[in-house]
Amino acid sequence: MRYNKTLLLLLACSMSLFAQKAKDNTKRDQFISGLMAKMTIDEKIAQTVQYTADGTVTGPKTGINYIDEIKRGNVGSILNATGVKYTRELQKLNLDNSRLKIPLIFGHDVIHGFRTIFPITLGEAASWDLSAVELSARVAAREAAAAGVHWTFAPMVDISRDPRWGRVSEGSGEDTYLGSKMAFARVRGFQGHDLMSTDVILACTKHFAAYGAAEAGRDYNTVDMSERVLRETYLPPFKATVDAGVGSFMTSFNEIAGVPATASKFLLRDILKKEWGFKGFVVTDYTAINELIPHGVARDSAHAGELAMVAGVDMEMVGGIYMKNLKKLLAEKRVTEAQINDACRRVLEAKYDLGLFTDPYRQSSEQREKAELTKKENLDAALMVANKSMVLLKNSNNVLPLRKEQKVAFVGPLVSDEHNIIGSWAATGDRSGFAVSVQEGVNKIVTDKNKVTFDKGVEIVDSRRDMMQAALNNARKADVIVAVMGEFENMTGEAASRTNIDLPGIQKEFLAELKKLGKPVVLVLMNGRPLTLTWENDNMDAILEAWYPGTMGGDAIAQTLYGINNPSGKLPMTFPRNIGQIPLYYNHKNTGRPYLGPSDPEQKYKSRYIDVDNSPLYPFGYGLSYSTFSYSNLKLSSAKMQMNGKLKVSVDVTNTGNYDGEEVIQLYVRDVVGSVTRPVKELKGFKKLLIKKGQKQTVDFELTTEDLKFYNIDMKFVAEPGDFEVFVGGSSDAILKDKFELVK
Ligand code: NOJ
Repeated sequence: MRYNKTLLLLLACSMSLFAQKAKDNTKRDQFISGLMAKMTIDEKIAQTVQYTADGTVTGPKTGINYIDEIKRGNVGSILNATGVKYTRELQKLNLDNSRLKIPLIFGHDVIHGFRTIFPITLGEAASWDLSAVELSARVAAREAAAAGVHWTFAPMVDISRDPRWGRVSEGSGEDTYLGSKMAFARVRGFQGHDLMSTDVILACTKHFAAYGAAEAGRDYNTVDMSERVLRETYLPPFKATVDAGVGSFMTSFNEIAGVPATASKFLLRDILKKEWGFKGFVVTDYTAINELIPHGVARDSAHAGELAMVAGVDMEMVGGIYMKNLKKLLAEKRVTEAQINDACRRVLEAKYDLGLFTDPYRQSSEQREKAELTKKENLDAALMVANKSMVLLKNSNNVLPLRKEQKVAFVGPLVSDEHNIIGSWAATGDRSGFAVSVQEGVNKIVTDKNKVTFDKGVEIVDSRRDMMQAALNNARKADVIVAVMGEFENMTGEAASRTNIDLPGIQKEFLAELKKLGKPVVLVLMNGRPLTLTWENDNMDAILEAWYPGTMGGDAIAQTLYGINNPSGKLPMTFPRNIGQIPLYYNHKNTGRPYLGPSDPEQKYKSRYIDVDNSPLYPFGYGLSYSTFSYSNLKLSSAKMQMNGKLKVSVDVTNTGNYDGEEVIQLYVRDVVGSVTRPVKELKGFKKLLIKKGQKQTVDFELTTEDLKFYNIDMKFVAEPGDFEVFVGGSSDAILKDKFELVK
């Protein structure tokens, strides 16, 4: 009885919310229709135009003077302008010159923080902690909004299986399921529940689509894949953001099977706007319409503009083609008025939703900006997320955690670094000494200064050797050596692909010298992609993957090294043994000649290399803790699952070590026989839980038919009856296994 009452109440509430939303939409439609009735075609086209300011440089120069264009009333949006003073000046200039007082929308790449910088996105994904990731996006939104930004070009949700690609640092790794959950959480974080509230910003899902599958990991390179792979592996994170209510989408630079994404009606109109019912607007990536010419699908810029408008691009980033050509294209009937109206309306709707027509400055003030940026609460959140993103890759003989009474020689090019530690795409993050370095973090914990030394030893890439001896001398006197090494921040991100993903420069040579001293050596890594660490794994005693951990990174690393934080991150991307194995990912197909490893009685004529094992160095989902967890008692609620039914999976997880710790419990499923081949396993659930030492927790998952669906032989998205295997554990190597049958 009581249950029914609650249900009725909930129903009534959601109906009234629904009614309210419908009323708001009607109000918005009336406002925009009224406005558009007064707009000339030039004014409508202006809404589809975005130019870059000269605050940040994020692409090639075009020679277009954005100030002149604003004065002519030719601009709907500006990117790369931040700060209350600057954005207010530009907005005022625009309003003074816009006949109908249509506000500008300011966009910026707020990827992993605005001024308070959080770990790079790949690092955040390693936390497997959705509420931490949502909080990170929320803090970034609050800071950006306070600094006059309305719109972020994030989340970047590109799945990638190629660590050579520099932009893996901006995404959530190789897995569709994890990537979709992260994408959803980020949109929620950026946009909050109501875009009208002035401490959230509009999100933009990018890069649509399959940009992460660039051939050979070379940025902007060609992509070719089946529609099945596109839909199953690459598109779900994009769809997840539509479900989360994302307000905008960005096209990608690449082509897919001969069609550049920016000219792809299939992607933009058929899938995004029609099939998924996306109501927001689509912006191109930087000069992506111009690039249709070198791609070889457009004769000239007018043709490029035509292709983009017909495909469903609503706003052009930077290139100036829409402004120059759309009116003429309309006169020549190469684009329709309905297409231009639709693009303009979508942009105006976003501006309306953000409250820009009521207050074009969204209550930004220098006072609010000052109070918000890097306030304590934001720094605390950044530290919390950085701690959660640390992945312990190796820890022989429990060399970690360090003890304060040990004498530790900290060495390496990143030991005192305050520049690289915040990573690439760090918005307005301060690289000049604001971030906490490892040295500073350690000094806060170890008060006896005789116990620690800090030496660079070597640089990241340049091969000077003159600092090495001093570092080795200190290392010789220590109980433990900690080497803090990695990549320059600009070795990852856009246009930063590598063909060699070893530790750069002579860092490895220096590690070999350190190893000769016979002391335990701990390697702490800062990098934006999986590296090839076979030698390091064989020779180092412990390895901590810290990614680029952000403004509070030095504190997080020090707290992890000294056991104040127990590492709980798990890899969102496979670490290969060598570059020749790439692409290497856990949810591969079995092939007709699967190789069972060194114990396989058949070593020839198997799908394998003759010089290295098929297995990765560290698999997806892998990460150690200072504690240990044991898995037992895997149970399924039934040996059969009805079509459209559910199945409960439960497992006992015991913390068998000496530290309280968080563990990411992962559930994988394999469809044994399908009308098309299926991966050897796929992540279908995870939970991150704190389990106290000595305690056991029973963890439940629910599988539904939705989790078992895929594009079958007829490209229908269905679950097929038959046998399924279930694996549960602390990584994609999970060994606890059971099975069930899906029945009609
Ligand atoms: C190019 C990048 O591909 C994209 O991610 C970014 O948002 C834009 N430049 C704007 O800076």
